[in-house]
Amino acid sequence: MTSTHAACTKGIILAGGSGTRMAPMTSCCNKQLLPIYDKPLVYYPLSTLMLAGVREVLLISSPTEIHRFEDLFGDGSQFGIEITYKVQQEPNGLAQAFVLGKEFIGDDSVALILGDNVFYGHGLSKTLQNVAQSGNGGTIFAYEVSDPERYGVIEMDAAGRPLAIVEKPKEPKSNFAVPGIYFFDNRVVGFAEAVKPSPRGEYEITDVIQQYMDDGSLSVQKMGRGVAWLDTGTPMALLQASNFIAAIEQRQGLRVCCPEEIAARMGFITAEQLAQQAAGMKSDYGVYLRGVAKQLIENPAVLEAIEVA
Ligand code: G1P
Repeated sequence: MTSTHAACTKGIILAGGSGTRMAPMTSCCNKQLLPIYDKPLVYYPLSTLMLAGVREVLLISSPTEIHRFEDLFGDGSQFGIEITYKVQQEPNGLAQAFVLGKEFIGDDSVALILGDNVFYGHGLSKTLQNVAQSGNGGTIFAYEVSDPERYGVIEMDAAGRPLAIVEKPKEPKSNFAVPGIYFFDNRVVGFAEAVKPSPRGEYEITDVIQQYMDDGSLSVQKMGRGVAWLDTGTPMALLQASNFIAAIEQRQGLRVCCPEEIAARMGFITAEQLAQQAAGMKSDYGVYLRGVAKQLIENPAVLEAIEVA
């Protein structure tokens, strides 16, 4: 039995890849574990899922790297969520995430986020929560970029209805790239199983999205220019993302995509649990968490109103 209308509380993080484009930085360490300023890259997509209300996470990575994520996150209980792990033998494409995640998904809807995608912007959590709540059909986002040929590109009509989606087109028909966060109902497993390898030899996410489009159940939401979708695909992009996060954090004194803080503000853990976790952390990060816990304990009402990413 499939439930196509249930709210989405499950999410997959695909943190695979061979990392060849980032060598030697990635020669003995997965790209998603490299730092974006003050925390590993994978903290950002994990935080984004948590902000959407996702509390069951499947993390997929390569046979040699999966244990590093297990070491980093364990079972996720410190964030008040459940994290399980699955190996992807070869980096064969994003659509495989749903086939590998079939058991995890069960009868539910699911979100997919790519382990190297960083999002930041006011109101983004609310947008994601609304999409996750609807649990209907497929929802993808469209984000204006100057170099659409590097991404999946979506063409829309004047009313914003999707007309075509093409993976890395040589001559893009629009400037709207599809960022690496997707929400699908339970049919995604069957759609993903039907995907055949593309000319570049990958099971493409665009071929899953295409099936929702053919079925008339794909919605596309524009992610406005007030949201930052940061690229982390090159050493320079990684540095720029770090500088961006550092600038915001230094200005506000608030940390971006800090899963421990999000867990406490979302009510996944209590402020007391946060305080306990932070007690032994010697880094500035730990000092920050202790500050958040203290404020939440003293004055929850004021702090609930603050955006967390
Ligand atoms: C993948 C998807 C592409 C999407 C992009 C977002 O590209 O195939 O459609 O726009 O992620 O980061 P890849 O990372 O395989 O180059």
